Amino acid sequence: MEVFLHKICGQPVQPPVSMQLRRCTPEQAPAVYALQNEVRAAMPDPEQFVPDTLENITAYVRNDLCIGAWQGSRLGGYLIVRFCGRSAHNYAAFMDVPRTEWEHWANADSAIVHADFRGNGLQRLMLEAALPLFPKKITHIGATVSPQNQYSLHNALASGFAIISRREMYGGHDRYLLAKEL
Ligand SMILES: CC(C)(COP(=O)(O)OP(=O)(O)OC[C@H]1O[C@@H](n2cnc3c(N)ncnc32)[C@H](O)[C@@H]1OP(=O)(O)O)[C@@H](O)C(=O)NCCC(=O)NCCS
Repeated sequence: MEVFLHKICGQPVQPPVSMQLRRCTPEQAPAVYALQNEVRAAMPDPEQFVPDTLENITAYVRNDLCIGAWQGSRLGGYLIVRFCGRSAHNYAAFMDVPRTEWEHWANADSAIVHADFRGNGLQRLMLEAALPLFPKKITHIGATVSPQNQYSLHNALASGFAIISRREMYGGHDRYLLAKEL
């Protein structure tokens, strides 16, 4: 999917710059991992984003879904969606959804946009690009967002997610649990 950036490094650009949103390949997992680490290191409150290992990210890229936002060969953002089925990692497990239904739930696992490309709605656009690639059986998406993460929370609510509850996740991190029906 092609999108157009109207802002780079917070400054308006004219004409808008093209960016490609497409599925990442396993060979691109190191670029995803590097972007995660670079962006997290620059976050004022890194508690808002629990980082993942290269091994896990490679597995998600291979077995789940990772949409990358590419400007030429530069990765500017990514979204990882996981299909956890009946495993306890499924966010549906924390939302009183019966286990027989979990296979219909996807986890919106993580989203990152490099500061150079923020302000173009890329978090929401990457979800749009991901939706047509979901397995047909998926009817709901679950997500977690730190209540302090105003940008991500705003985007999740604007994308149609609703807050279901607030609880500790990932070993003691304060999070909203959100759900969206497709
Ligand atoms: C959450 C995130 C992906 C949103 O990026 P995005 O889709 O580009 O954000 P938007 O286009 O909705 O930005 C809307 C406005 O908020 C600003 N903004 C977005 N994220 C920002 C941030 N982390 N810090 C400061 N300002 C930010 C944008 O510059 C824009 O401002 P403008 O309207 O004046 O131009 C991005 O902030 C990010 O990568 N954060 C770190 C990782 C993270 O927290 N991920 C979510 C949890 S998995």
